Amino acid sequence: MTPEEVESEQIKTPKSFWQRQVQMASVQLSRWLALPAIIIAFSLLRSQAQAQSLYSEYPSRSTILAGADGPPLQGSNHSKANSGLDVLGYVTPWNPAGYQIAENYRGRINTVSPVWYTVKPDGDPSFRRYQVHGGPPTDEDALWYHRLQAPATDNTTRQSLAPVKIMPRFQLEEWTPEDYRTLLSHTVEGLGFTEAIIAEVMTREYDGVVLETGAAWALRAPVQALSDRLHEEGKELVIVLPPLRHDTAESNQLILSAVTELSPFVDAIHVMTYDHLGQGGALWHTESEIPEGSALQSEGVRTFGPNTPLEWIERNVEGMSGQLEVDSSMFGGISGVDQAFGFHASYADVQAGLSPSNVQSKLLVGVAAYGYTYPVGWLDPAAKPQIVLPPSSPIHTKDNSTDEQAKFRRKAEEKEAARSDVWPILAKGGDPFTFNDLREVLRGSKVLVRRDEDSGENYVDYLKAREDGATQKRPDGTEAPIAWYRRAYFPSPSTMNLRIETVQRAGARGIAIWDLGQGGSWLMHAV
Ligand SMILES: *[C@@H]1O[C@H](CO)[C@@H](O)[C@H](O)[C@H]1NC(C)=O
Ligand SMILES: *[C@@H]1O[C@H](CO)[C@@H](O)[C@H](O)[C@H]1NC(C)=O
Repeated sequence: MTPEEVESEQIKTPKSFWQRQVQMASVQLSRWLALPAIIIAFSLLRSQAQAQSLYSEYPSRSTILAGADGPPLQGSNHSKANSGLDVLGYVTPWNPAGYQIAENYRGRINTVSPVWYTVKPDGDPSFRRYQVHGGPPTDEDALWYHRLQAPATDNTTRQSLAPVKIMPRFQLEEWTPEDYRTLLSHTVEGLGFTEAIIAEVMTREYDGVVLETGAAWALRAPVQALSDRLHEEGKELVIVLPPLRHDTAESNQLILSAVTELSPFVDAIHVMTYDHLGQGGALWHTESEIPEGSALQSEGVRTFGPNTPLEWIERNVEGMSGQLEVDSSMFGGISGVDQAFGFHASYADVQAGLSPSNVQSKLLVGVAAYGYTYPVGWLDPAAKPQIVLPPSSPIHTKDNSTDEQAKFRRKAEEKEAARSDVWPILAKGGDPFTFNDLREVLRGSKVLVRRDEDSGENYVDYLKAREDGATQKRPDGTEAPIAWYRRAYFPSPSTMNLRIETVQRAGARGIAIWDLGQGGSWLMHAV
């Protein structure tokens, strides 16, 4: 599965109750989008206070717009910020900026995985064949990956650049349970599967394969055969696995058994630690008292949050390498772990099969280069929609003042505290939010950049016209567009720093970035 498909599988669409009930606060767009911003009439009065940096916890709007596409402010594009960190970067044809980012930052990347291939079952049910589909979409793409595979020199710094490994992703697509069964029980078909992939790798001179399948735990024999053949040819195999989640005990067990089965012979395991909530958000809990009988008490109310909490990264590394603490005094189970992951006592059994240092030395922790933007509805205790306006940042000339930014964030927090009986609710599913989306929002709105502590992700609140083009009559009879209040979470270099720190502290080998084309150059400044 691609992360997109994993995402869509996980979508738990908000209950239609809210789709019906949350008539969005009908703010007239034009009143709030007070842009283009006032242009520096008083540039001499510009605040001399400590300037915002691209790399601070709260990079300002204008700093991001000015620097996120450019080279690092210090050092070369090609010097790793974290020596010893193994870095795999995915490049997808649908986020083509990644091709250039991979070249501009190749000195910081060990392996590039172009997302080009699927493996599909084919032929007569009595004799299955497995066909490899895809390849470099154009000759340009073929030249691109060969350039990365060859040693090079940075023209400005004369720094010599090591070859980058090219290991395309092969994804098993359209497989039925029957296809898996055939593959497992028929030697000839198994051989065909392996050789189809090997043939492509040899012809194209790749350095290995990233294999993604929704049923890795069931495929020990074919994966081992593929791994053996690749190793014979001096090539490598990375396997992709879903993350452990606190509410999916059964799938956690399958993931862990895949780790136990496959970790002895694959070269690396990429665990997809992103989309902790995904598009569907999470079930809403509030500490506040909700009046008896309020519609807010009915089921299915959802809320939003960051893409990847840091603690979740840590738990995944610990869980996969068999290091979660087992406390047999607690129901013969595991203290804290049941809560953290919903594991059953059988975690102890799986744990016995895991070799922590072996797994850690192969673990590439998924790092999202994107976030989500969520349409938010504000409701009072009676579930009546309220109009709430997003907070804004200081006037343009003070946008780079750290003190001014802090003042505006404080003001926003005070305002939020004062409306403690108006709640933000996810009004419909969220959408992925990339650097291009961020740039558009920053150009279009004077947003305040804020930060979520648990994930180190930044977020901005803004208004955006509804996709369905809904309008509303103004008093003068003309139509005004209706806007969603939106909150968008996104990673910045400071988020990347925290994630990498967490990965290294947990003892994993490195990171796998999904995907290079989504995040903008600035994320690579931190890698
Ligand atoms: C803020 O700093 C950036 C450079 O970091 C600069 O390009 C931008 O113009 C500054 N903005 C203002 C309003 O001074
Ligand atoms: C460094 O990266 C920037 C983009 O962030 C690019 O414009 C520049 O050409 C790169 N320089 C080198 C030497 O790769």
